[in-house]
Amino acid sequence: MSRQTQAIIHADAIIHNFDYLCSLAPQSQTMVVIKADAYGHGAINVARILRNKAPAFAVAITEEAIKLREAGIDAPIVVLEGPHQEKECLQARDENLTIVVHDTTQLEWVKRQTPTQPPGIWLKVDTGMHRLGMTPEDAQRALTDYSQIIGDDCVLVTHMASADDTDNSATANQLDKFARLVKQTGLAVSIANSPATLGWPASHGNWNRVGLGVFGSNPMHDASYLSRVQPAMTLRASVIALRHIKAGEYVGYGQAWQAQKDSIIATIGIGYADGYPRHCSNGTPVLVNGQRAPLAGRVSMDMLTVDVTEVGQVQIGDFVELWGEKLRIDEVAACAGTISYELMTRVSPRVPRVVRYR
Ligand SMILES: Cc1ncc(COP(=O)(O)O)c(C=O)c1O
Repeated sequence: MSRQTQAIIHADAIIHNFDYLCSLAPQSQTMVVIKADAYGHGAINVARILRNKAPAFAVAITEEAIKLREAGIDAPIVVLEGPHQEKECLQARDENLTIVVHDTTQLEWVKRQTPTQPPGIWLKVDTGMHRLGMTPEDAQRALTDYSQIIGDDCVLVTHMASADDTDNSATANQLDKFARLVKQTGLAVSIANSPATLGWPASHGNWNRVGLGVFGSNPMHDASYLSRVQPAMTLRASVIALRHIKAGEYVGYGQAWQAQKDSIIATIGIGYADGYPRHCSNGTPVLVNGQRAPLAGRVSMDMLTVDVTEVGQVQIGDFVELWGEKLRIDEVAACAGTISYELMTRVSPRVPRVVRYR
């Protein structure tokens, strides 16, 4: 390997965060959401790290589940969007996947393809997110109309739109709406994502579905939650060039940064093609040899530039943390005008993931 650019995956942090989220909801089972390659951490890595701990995993789409099965992951897997095409019903049955069905079209597919031996079916109910799911009335009707394929072990699933804000009454409204349906059916439920698990104990159901919290970012508005979880990824690269520039000179594309005094610029071997956000502006912090230094100039495809004038001795080959154990991803996401979910999931395949235990 030539470049020193890596995403270090901290297995102990993943285990710690999972245990912590489980401890908040001792009456629930906690499945870990490892869609989008486990938010960039590597779905197979995370499934292996949590192999003897997590009772189930969730992915968005069938292909993600199949990849896990091919890697020998035999834990229960829930496919959150259910089948996008009819043929996936057969794959779901053959690969022992549980599908979350949000529309009667999908139920028709299951009935046609696997009438006698259907895959496990959970039912998605729209209680206010208005993205996926049946109305509570339609869900109730579907339970009767499709009783041939929906088993007694069906779980009613809903998703919270604003659980990250503990002052937002929309969550309580969603919970109320859902509770009425649940009471009528007597079925098990799955409601809570990471923010709901942290901030809304009333949402803890038979199954919670946690993603971001396991990966060590704060899913809540309230920054005080950050210290409860540990970062699961350190994105790091190294200094590949150093130069002294004079006051008044510019750095990078579009001359977006001008030196106010004689300065030392370090060029780092990571860019937006690796998933470091191009939207990070001048001043976004990185850690050079453990010290904060500001981005100077636009992020380019394979490199970025940092003002290391105040850092002291910097040499080619020195490590730079873009986010991770000592510089929280949440801070970098704020500088990029986005959320940590996006930063994590955008770390590109060019960046090797290296799993580390302490
Ligand atoms: C349906 C569903 N459940 C659970 C999750 C996990 O959410 P979080 O990463 O906030 O824990 C997601 C993530 O987007 C989701 O779409």
